Amino acid sequence: MPRNKLLVTGGAGFIGANFVHYWTRNYRRDRVVVLDALTYAGNPASLEPLQSLPAFRFVHGDIRDATLVRALLRDERINTIVHFAAESHVDRSIHSPDAFIHTNVLGTCNLLQAAREAWEADREATDFRFHHVSTDEVYGTLSRDDPAFVETSPYDPSSPYAASKAASDHFVRAYRRTYGLPVSISNCSNNYGPYHFPEKLIPLMIVNALSGAKLPVYGDGSNVRDWLFVEDHCRAIDRILRQGTVGETYNIGGGAEISNLDLVRNLCRLLDEAIGASRALQGTYPDCPAARGSSCADLITFVADRPGHDWRYAMDAAKLRNATGFQPDENLVSGLRKTVQWYLANEGWWRPLLDARYAKWVRQNYPDAGRT
Ligand SMILES: NC(=O)c1ccc[n+]([C@@H]2O[C@H](COP(=O)([O-])OP(=O)(O)OC[C@H]3O[C@@H](n4cnc5c(N)ncnc54)[C@H](O)[C@@H]3O)[C@@H](O)[C@H]2O)c1
Repeated sequence: MPRNKLLVTGGAGFIGANFVHYWTRNYRRDRVVVLDALTYAGNPASLEPLQSLPAFRFVHGDIRDATLVRALLRDERINTIVHFAAESHVDRSIHSPDAFIHTNVLGTCNLLQAAREAWEADREATDFRFHHVSTDEVYGTLSRDDPAFVETSPYDPSSPYAASKAASDHFVRAYRRTYGLPVSISNCSNNYGPYHFPEKLIPLMIVNALSGAKLPVYGDGSNVRDWLFVEDHCRAIDRILRQGTVGETYNIGGGAEISNLDLVRNLCRLLDEAIGASRALQGTYPDCPAARGSSCADLITFVADRPGHDWRYAMDAAKLRNATGFQPDENLVSGLRKTVQWYLANEGWWRPLLDARYAKWVRQNYPDAGRT
């Protein structure tokens, strides 16, 4: 494969960081430039092991900064944009939708415009691609017996997050139809795995259980999600870039539907096993119920449901499978086991994030703390 020059937006976030690790491991000759604004969700520590690679460059900046984006595309002669940067947490979008409109809609439009200019300036010379990373949430919700979403399912977003992603998908398609920009889109189900910020369901449950804190489950826990191990998502995007058809949209799913409550119970079982089998871990996490011979499941507690909470998502990924042969490598059990092992082995990555969260909480609730 010829040397590609990638711009990965949001590469310090959860999936973006996993993608950059995946790509630099598999395509050592490619140039990889990460553009990330380092919001609360961006963590440079996730990219730390890559800083010494000559082909890797981290740029701290905003996708809405037109001058910066234009200069990066031109100076680095970027031919592949993989666009992950987004505000991504549904709960935050319910409380403060503005940032979602700004980054997910306006930021994507800014990138598209800069990409169009770069591609039109060098149309003959480059094999150009703008790949937009989107979500299953644009399709809205399913009931128990509905068939899984296909690429032609109507858009019906429920949350401000999903609406902002839906809007960005429409703009990407419009740039294809109006200007011919070589784009592709993937809509993926819920991801989990290493480097996941501990406000999202799976890492939150792991780190709370380790410190003996409650495991909050929305409503009665019956909402169903389809989960995909993050490295499988990265491989799927790779396949779309190499074998997918320009202008097409591909659903990506794990084929692993499970209710939130059963998911949390599975995590508790894995933690009980891991902590129960290791004296060292019992010493490190003395407040975890599994360190005292009880089950982490004792910490499960039901909290008021999220407004507009979609009941079920499920993805039909046949189009991607038929076009590229892609199948996930991990099933839910093997993927969750890898994830639990990663969090147990990488407390140095997640602990400072919790400490920062705690410090913010103290500042908000006790503004005079520490002052004389
Ligand atoms: N996490 C999932 O389960 C999932 C599933 C399907 C699709 N997606 C999509 O995948 C993408 C990545 O999701 P994630 O979970 O890794 O998100 P994340 O919140 O972990 O990371 C987002 C990254 O984008 C950066 N960012 C935010 N605003 C920016 C801006 N204005 N300019 C530059 N960088 C900015 C943040 O600093 C962060 O590093 C998103 O587009 C999301 O919609 C996520």
